[in-house]
Parts: sequence; structure tokens; C-alpha cells
Amino acid sequence: SKGTYEHYMLKEIDEQPGVMRHISQTYLDDAGNPKVDSKIVDAVAKADRLYIFAAGTSYHAGLVGKALFEHYTGIPTEVGYASEAGYHFPMMSKNPFFIFLTQSGETADSRVVLKETNKRGIPSLTMTNVEGSTLSREATYTMLLGAGPEIAVASTKAYTAQVAVQAVLAKALGEKLGVKEAQEWNLHHDLAIAAEGIQQLVDGKEKLKEIADKYLIKSRNAFYIGRGIDHAVALEAALKLKEVSYIQTEGFAAAELKHGTISLIENGTPVIALINDPVTAELTRGNIQEVVSRGANIVTIVSKEFANSSDDIVLPEINYYMSALLTVIPTQLLAYYASRDKGLDVDKPRNLAKSVTVE
Ligand code: M6R
Repeated sequence: SKGTYEHYMLKEIDEQPGVMRHISQTYLDDAGNPKVDSKIVDAVAKADRLYIFAAGTSYHAGLVGKALFEHYTGIPTEVGYASEAGYHFPMMSKNPFFIFLTQSGETADSRVVLKETNKRGIPSLTMTNVEGSTLSREATYTMLLGAGPEIAVASTKAYTAQVAVQAVLAKALGEKLGVKEAQEWNLHHDLAIAAEGIQQLVDGKEKLKEIADKYLIKSRNAFYIGRGIDHAVALEAALKLKEVSYIQTEGFAAAELKHGTISLIENGTPVIALINDPVTAELTRGNIQEVVSRGANIVTIVSKEFANSSDDIVLPEINYYMSALLTVIPTQLLAYYASRDKGLDVDKPRNLAKSVTVE
């Protein structure tokens, strides 16, 4: 039940610190070592390439997973829309391993790919929130997200759970493969930092409501920009905002704006910039200047490491590879308040269903 909450979406946003702690308890022992079924780790360790398939928000979680897997395991990783791969199967490496990300475990587009995967005898793993769901039953292996039921159509806690469970697998796999980055990684610490950081951000939700009311609810369009993992989060943030608020929103790699899209920037266009990537933080600042000089209303969501006094939302410091877990939170809250304060049906946006069982 919603309890005292007006909407499931806010309840589910608020549950994320607990989801992080639950994943830590489920998948790490007291010493912080991963507890992942050794059959799964052994099977994935044989792969020369990982292929992640998913739809919507789960696809965006896969984009973050790519960064995690490549950094901590050294295995090249591709991420694709299930809806595309089903009928244009990707070119395979010699020893592929497929990962399906799906909150519901019932998404028809993903099921089509898994069917073909099984036909070809390719080993697979479904990461899902629903035990016994179709994709879980049909894949070789399953890892449960354990985020608890997600009722709001807009996915929030399943996204952060998918990022965290992929991190667990990356850690287990990287250790198995003897990758230094994985061996030296204190994932236990990072998940604790994530839980605390998310708590801090949801406690500051009033600030996001003010920003949504001031910059978003009267606007027809908006942009999210970021580089590296922030680009992946920008895509998810844009989907979240547009699906619940009906404000047309696009997520962009920050530097791509000047290759065309900057022509859409007018006086008052909201542009929300995400900055966590140490390598490109300064360059994104430059991209912010480009849109400010064209009249954009800029909102910045910035890691404490790079923040200054004019930034709007300062994110607690965390390992860059885990930063999506924190960056996404203010964007979920912006979407929530934009929808709510426009008087829309937050939990059931028009034309959408929670689980998409048609292709
Ligand atoms: O259940 P799934 O994770 O397979 O669903 C995939 C998408 O339909 C889903 O993530 C959708 O994009 C979200 N409801 C958006 O918030």
C-alpha cells in the first residue's frame, strides 16, 4: 500500500536507501566479498563479450552496466534495445554471454531475444525484480533485484537496483578473472555510501520541488546533458521526466548539443547538466556556458568533488563508476514534482502500462 504517501512513485523513490542495503546484505558477505552463485560467475567468466538487452529504463541501467563491466572485468560489453535485437540479431563474438535486464521479467521485446538466444545455445542471465517471471524461467540463470514490488509505471528503484546488482556481478567476475580494479574495489563501502547519499538526497526533496515548479512545469521542453556515465543517466532522466510530466525532454552527450540541437535552445529553455566524470567535468562546464549564452535556464547536479557555490544540487562524493546511483535521484524527484504539480496522474501516465507484453 501507499501508506501515508500520495503516490507510489515517491514512496518507491524514498525506498532506495533500503534497496541498496538489501542488495549489499544479499550479495556481499560481512567481509564485503561477493556472494554470487559460482555457477553464474564461472559461466560469465568464459565469455569474451557480454551482450546486455533490455528496454526503456532497464536499457538505460544497462548503459551504466557497460561502464561497470568494462572497467572492472575488462570484458567488452555491448548494450542493445531488445526490440531491435530480436529481429536484427547482433553479430556474435566466439563466446558470447547474454544478460537480460527487466524489472517485470515479462517484457515481450526481451522475450523475443531470449528465445533466439536459447535457440542458438548461448548462455544467459536474467536480472529481474520478479521471481518466477517468464524471462527468469527461460534464461539459464537468474539474479533477483530484490527491490520489492514496483507499482508506479515510472521505474525508479528497479533502475538503481539493476545498477547495484550489475556492480555485484562485475565485482565477482573481475575478482574471478584477477582484474586489479575489481580486487581493490570496496563495493561494500560504495553501497553503504550510496544508501547514505540517496537518503541525504531524498531528505532534500523540497529543493527539487522548487526547481521543478520554477523551471519545468511551465516549459514545453527540456534537456539533460552529461558525459560518460552522466550521459547514460541523462538518457534515463529525460525518459523519466517526459513520461510522467509530458514535457518533451531529451538526454544528450553534453558536447553533442553544439552539433545541431543547440539551435533549439531559446530564452528560458531548461537545461539540466549532470557532472560526475572527473575526466570531462571542465568540458561540461564549457558546454553549460554555450547554452547559458543562448538564454537557457541551467540547473546543475554536480558531485561535491567539482561543485562550487552556484551549483543547484550537490551530490555526495562516491566512486565515479557508482555515481549513477546518486545522480539519478534528483532527476527522479524532478520528474515526480513536475508531474504532480502539473496535476497529472503521476503513477499512471497516459498511454502507458507497467509491463509491456506486446512487441
Ligand atoms: O519490466 P522491464 O524492465 O522489462 O520494462 C522495460 C520498460 O518497459 C520499462 O523500463 C519502462 O521504460 C519504464 N516503465 C519507464 O519508467
